[in-house]
Amino acid sequence: MEILESPKSENDLNILLQEVNLSSFIGQLTEEELRQYITNRTIYFFYDDKEVVGFGAWEAINSEWTEIGPFYNLERYRGKGLGTLIVQHLVMVNAGKKLYAVTKNSIVKKMLVKFGFQNVSVLELPWPIYGHLMSKLSLSRLFNLGRKLSLEPVAQFIRTTEPVQLEAEKSTLPAIPLPEFREGESAAI
Ligand SMILES: CC(C)(COP(=O)(O)OP(=O)(O)OC[C@H]1O[C@@H](n2cnc3c(N)ncnc32)[C@H](O)[C@@H]1OP(=O)(O)O)[C@@H](O)C(=O)NCCC(=O)NCCS
Repeated sequence: MEILESPKSENDLNILLQEVNLSSFIGQLTEEELRQYITNRTIYFFYDDKEVVGFGAWEAINSEWTEIGPFYNLERYRGKGLGTLIVQHLVMVNAGKKLYAVTKNSIVKKMLVKFGFQNVSVLELPWPIYGHLMSKLSLSRLFNLGRKLSLEPVAQFIRTTEPVQLEAEKSTLPAIPLPEFREGESAAI
């Protein structure tokens, strides 16, 4: 699995956008929003050889809090551990931050709990998260959320402490090969 900050081609963006916007679990993702994540360097694209198979994005709420998501993997790559790898990567790159996530996907709800997130009610959300959510509400977003209404309840999750390394984080973390150094040599990366 290759994890990149930018897509390998424009077509890869279109492949992702097309499928994501059919999903009932993500309100709406525009090309501009996806490009904004790339500009902000708050997204990773996941590749199986040459093929794009998913992405995971995040957004800084303030210096303390980060929202993780949206994240997505193509339907034909589900149930093979990729979703767990994406969430694990998002948690890892945001180490030291308090994390917030919102979802109505029951699979994601279970995954978040495995990664040490707590399900909280809207009333329990910390203040910075309210401000962040209000700033994201636009008419077009509300319209698209309404279009995709489902019976699945939306749930809010927060992770405020770094748990001792969780089983979910240990299990599938890919070994990142580090360059070998000998004294006096410079590293070629
Ligand atoms: C959620 C999503 C990322 C999961 O991807 P995935 O590659 O199938 O995930 P994994 O293979 O790592 O499986 C994660 C867990 O879910 C379980 N799972 C996967 N598919 C399942 C299914 N159809 N039914 C029940 N459980 C399922 C797995 O068994 C695994 O559980 P375990 O950790 O106890 O073994 C993917 O389904 C997706 O992109 N969904 C739509 C977008 C979305 O909801 N994004 C999140 C909100 S922004």
